[in-house]
Amino acid sequence: MSQRTYLMLKPDAVAARHIGEIIARIERVGLKIERLELANVTVDQAKANYAEHEGKPFYAGLIEYITSGPVVKMIVSGPGAVAVARKLMGETDPAKAAPGTIRGDFGLVMDENVIHGSDSPESAEREIGIFFPS
Ligand SMILES: Nc1ncnc2c1ncn2[C@@H]1O[C@H](COP(=O)(O)OP(=O)(O)O)[C@@H](O)[C@H]1O
Ligand SMILES: [Mg+2]
Repeated sequence: MSQRTYLMLKPDAVAARHIGEIIARIERVGLKIERLELANVTVDQAKANYAEHEGKPFYAGLIEYITSGPVVKMIVSGPGAVAVARKLMGETDPAKAAPGTIRGDFGLVMDENVIHGSDSPESAEREIGIFFPS
């Protein structure tokens, strides 16, 4: 059964001109791009998306980073889309993410880890509501 996930190419990926290569990987496995938009994340959207991390040492830097420049927001669908996208992304820390994963191939440090992806179908629907309110 088809499932939706929310993916976002973070400001470092957009600044480095990696949009095309990363989207190609998402499409190559057969996932479908349902919506796609280049935009800036507002501080309110950033805080809503990362509410679970409030109070952690990296929280302020995370909000600053995700609002620092344009991102690519996407709704992506397909069977097991949430887990498949997380597999393509690799581990949170690019230094630990395996070669062949998006974070492993396009990132180097935790502070700029290239891509966001929902961690469950429930998170996906919540995040889609934050970033595509219409
Ligand atoms: N120790 C850290 N230092 C800096 N940024 C971090 C750290 N941990 C997490 N982050 C940032 O917060 C985001 C959300 O963290 P988390 O939900 O744990 O990872 P993921 O994005 O893989 O779901 C990460 O993608 C990363 O941008
Ligand atoms: Mg997470």
